[in-house]
Formats: sequence, C-alpha cells, structure tokens
Amino acid sequence: MQVVVSRDQIAKRVEELGSAITRDYKGKELVIVGILRGACIFLADLIRAIDLPVTLDFMEVASYQGVKSSGSIRILKDITTEVEGKDLLIVEDIVDTGLTLAFVIEYLGGRQPRSMKVCALALKSGTPMPTPSPIHYLGFRVPDGFLVGYGLDLDQKYRNLRDLCILCEEKELKR
Ligand code: XMP
Ligand code: MG
Repeated sequence: MQVVVSRDQIAKRVEELGSAITRDYKGKELVIVGILRGACIFLADLIRAIDLPVTLDFMEVASYQGVKSSGSIRILKDITTEVEGKDLLIVEDIVDTGLTLAFVIEYLGGRQPRSMKVCALALKSGTPMPTPSPIHYLGFRVPDGFLVGYGLDLDQKYRNLRDLCILCEEKELKR
C-alpha cells in the first residue's frame, strides 16, 4: 500500500475547497448531501471548513463489490430532507466511471433543488469527463487503481487510515 495523497495535502486542499464554497455561496444556506459511506470523513472535515449555515443529509448507494464496480446502482438509504428550491451540494468520495455520480445527480435533480453542485474528493486519472464537468469542486486527480483510506474502503476496511493510499494499480485489477 502506497500513500497517494498525504494527510497534510488533504488538510490543505479541504481548507481551499471550503473557502471556495463559502465564497461561491455567500449569503446562502446550503443543504449538503453526503454519499455514504465513503464520503463520511471528507464531509466531516469539509463542513468545518465552510463558513455558512449548512444542513446535512445522507444518501447511501451501492455499486462496488470488492475492487470492481458491479455496474448497477442501488439506493440503500435516501435523503429525508425536503430539497425543493434549496441549494444542494453533493459530497462524493471518489469518481471512477462516473456512473454513481450520474445516477445521484439524476435522482436528486428530480427533487427540484434550486441549484445542485458536486464536490468530490478524488477523480481517477483515466476517467473521461463530459463537458461541462459534473464535478464543480475537486480535491485531487488520483492514479487509476484501487484507493483506500480517508473514508475509502476495501470491503469496509481501511476507512480509518489518515492518508489516501493506493492498494493496487489498474493493471493488477485487470489481471
Ligand atoms: P463509479 O465508477 O460509479 O464509482 O464512478 C464511484 C463509486 O464507487 C466507489 N469507488 C471506490 N471506492 N476505492 C473505494 O474505496 C476506489 O478506488 C473506488 N473507486 C470507486 C466510490 O464509493 C464511489 O461512490
Ligand atoms: Mg466503497
């Protein structure tokens, strides 16, 4: 396991993202929806870097089994906040194919928020992103492969590592 983004780099970037969000939403109230479970640690740090009135809710979706995406996405937990007419910020841990994010955007968009943006901790390098990108605030571009730590897991383990680490490279996943 190798460190890809250190705890110090994460802390610095989280402050920058929090400042940008605070600036962009000045005078507004934000509903933040974290995507469980991976985004929990990032979300906890990020909201404390945002100097605005915020409310929190969570959605849990599942697509991955082990180190591979299953391709089909299921809602395991829905939000209970009424978001119609509100400014919504989705907080996601890591974007790989973009399928999970596209699903969540489509689903929450159907609840008619006034605005909806996405803040993601990491985006895998090989992921082709449509323009305009669905990610408005991005922490880091990371290598393709399987990442753990800072909330990210392999079969529910390693979420408590302080650094973002790579478990195996893309070529090993394909074997
Ligand atoms: P897609 O392919 O839908 O994948 O963009 C995004 C979702 O899958 C999880 N994911 C990961 N989780 N290490 C993880 O712990 C990874 O390297 C990884 N890649 C994708 C993630 O939860 C995200 O919601
Ligand atoms: Mg996961």
